[in-house]
Amino acid sequence: MAGRQGRQWRSVCKGLLLGTFLTTCTILLYCLNTMQVHISRPEVPVPYSCSHRPPKMQRKTATNSSQKAAGQSCSPKMDIMFMKTHKTASSTFLNILFRFGEKHRLTFAFPSGRNDFFYPSFFQRSQVKDYRPGMCFNVICNHMRFNVQEVAKLLPADTSYITILRDPAELFESSFHYFGRLVPFTWKIPGDDKLSEFLRDPQHYFDPEGFNAFYLKNLLFFDFGQDNKLDLDDPRVGEGIQFIAEHFQLVMLVEYFEESLILLKEALCWEMDDLLFFKLNARKGSTVSKLTPELRARALQWNAIDWKLYQHFNQTFWKKVDAYGQGRMADDVAELRKRNAAMASICIEGGHAVEAGSIQETDMQPWQPIGEKSIMGYNIKKNVDKEHRKLCRKMLMPEIQYLTELGVNLWITKLWGRVRDIINW
Ligand SMILES: *[C@@H]1O[C@H](CO)[C@@H](O)[C@H](O)[C@H]1NC(C)=O
Ligand SMILES: *[C@@H]1O[C@H](CO)[C@@H](O)[C@H](O)[C@H]1NC(C)=O
Repeated sequence: MAGRQGRQWRSVCKGLLLGTFLTTCTILLYCLNTMQVHISRPEVPVPYSCSHRPPKMQRKTATNSSQKAAGQSCSPKMDIMFMKTHKTASSTFLNILFRFGEKHRLTFAFPSGRNDFFYPSFFQRSQVKDYRPGMCFNVICNHMRFNVQEVAKLLPADTSYITILRDPAELFESSFHYFGRLVPFTWKIPGDDKLSEFLRDPQHYFDPEGFNAFYLKNLLFFDFGQDNKLDLDDPRVGEGIQFIAEHFQLVMLVEYFEESLILLKEALCWEMDDLLFFKLNARKGSTVSKLTPELRARALQWNAIDWKLYQHFNQTFWKKVDAYGQGRMADDVAELRKRNAAMASICIEGGHAVEAGSIQETDMQPWQPIGEKSIMGYNIKKNVDKEHRKLCRKMLMPEIQYLTELGVNLWITKLWGRVRDIINW
């Protein structure tokens, strides 16, 4: 009896030791990888455009639906900087970009070893996988803290800068849910409903110097490289918004995702086919925000800079819709929805997303937040016809898997995932 208990103890201890050891190794590796190597690089001008095909072959004639004068044509824009903000449906948009990039054989500027550019430190072009001065890249789209000078030295001068915003109250709720556990000062918030408790008295709980604190205050403004802790009346707030307005050709809104895609099609001369999508990385209903009006008001007050930013670009967004034509927009959105629904019935088993436990292929498992399995995914239909099989697979593929397929080596991200599986976190 005693011998058996002893053996059990030993195996528990071994397990604990192994767990601790692996976690430590991962954290060490993560830190090592986060340390930045600054090597001075010779300045080589970036080529004006890096498109693979000669411009003549890119011409496409405008279709009737875009109501352009007969014979007028445009070439699809292929050089794209997508500023991927956090918790803004950007995984869905990345899937669109990946497919567009594959279709046109574009060169992506990917990070190395992980799926972001050393966020939250500022972007440096030396973080790009296989970067060499003078190299030609078409698209950059992984998480970064925006750094315009460095991006400009990486991509062609006529690159289209695109980004996406989301209602800051919803974004804050989502960020709190997804990243809260990575922000140590949240650990001491009492009660089950930490979000409400935090918003009851944010000044009391928020530690501006705390590790990862930026996730919980004006995260959008922070992602754009700005100071998220400014007072709302600080002139740098307005300047920051102006800076974003000057650099980004299109600012999309999560709440009007289809409309945003139609504006994108117009701005970049893409086709409707390029816009097809399924919603990826969605949270299951029980964990989705149900902010009361009061909490919403508090969240907006707490994230006042992001709220100002959002309102500014909401205005410019609807001006663009007006310029496009409201009727024309409604027609195009209806068509996009119809085509997405048609694709869903072709590709998706059961026609909708399912919880992680019901996803059969590991290849289709989305990345989960720490301590949860709340992100939904899809099962691909078994009998998809040959013509659609490849497209279905790509449209349903979670971001990490798609990045791997595009040749990004995500060993740190994956190792971290393994360790989390082992210690069941
Ligand atoms: C475009 O318009 C022409 C003439 O108005 C029509 O014959 C043609 O079918 C239309 N094409 C599409 C794609 O709607
Ligand atoms: C966004 O703009 C539209 C149109 O001007 C307006 O109806 C809506 O209330 C605005 N939304 C926000 C959150 O400001």
